[in-house]
Amino acid sequence: MIEIAPSILSADFTRLGEQIAAAERGGASIIHVDVMDGHFVPNITLGLPVVRSLARATRLPLDTHLMISEPGRYAEQFAEAGAHMVSVHIEVDQHIHRTLASIRKRGAQAGVVINPATSLSALDEVLNFADYVLVMSVNPGFGGQEFIPTSVEKIRRLSRTIRERNLDVRIEVDGGIGPDNIAQVAAAGAEIFVAGTAVFGHDDPAAATRDLLNAAAQLV
Ligand code: DX5
Ligand code: ZN
Repeated sequence: MIEIAPSILSADFTRLGEQIAAAERGGASIIHVDVMDGHFVPNITLGLPVVRSLARATRLPLDTHLMISEPGRYAEQFAEAGAHMVSVHIEVDQHIHRTLASIRKRGAQAGVVINPATSLSALDEVLNFADYVLVMSVNPGFGGQEFIPTSVEKIRRLSRTIRERNLDVRIEVDGGIGPDNIAQVAAAGAEIFVAGTAVFGHDDPAAATRDLLNAAAQLV
């Protein structure tokens, strides 16, 4: 099932509740929350208090993407704060099985994130322990970057591996997604589409979300 997960990174933070409600009216089914520490990525965004407030402000599941250096120390706290999905970067977690288990223990879905320069082989031993894989199609840190085209083939290969291994793991994609490339990425096997600029860069986030859903449904 195709789902749009608008990233609040590009939203107007003074009207967050309103903007999320607009995205929901347009058919968004997940809210993507980018947590950055200024260490793993060269940008600082938001943390637990904002996640707690968001959990009260919307019924949509919150998908927290942890771009932080020691995700194992904090992942569980994000699940406790009300996140339904918590993802950690494989590049910075030496004990990722333990982190994924701690997320699941709190009743949230556990995701593994993989950077553009990280090979899919890094996932071999961890795929069985994840509910989803978040494939970065830009280098994490900022919204509004250009989609890296080789991500399509990467997603296709990952999708094939998941099928061959008969796993129940969904593919999410993040970075540079818009109406022009979403159908191609959906055809490659991604199901959850993070979109920041393409949703909140528009005056009408509801219409922009609807456009993405329609574009994803076009066969390529
Ligand atoms: C980038 C973040 C993304 C970002 C996507 O580091 O992880 O979630 O908000 O923004 P767009 O859709 O504008 O590329
Ligand atoms: Zn993200």
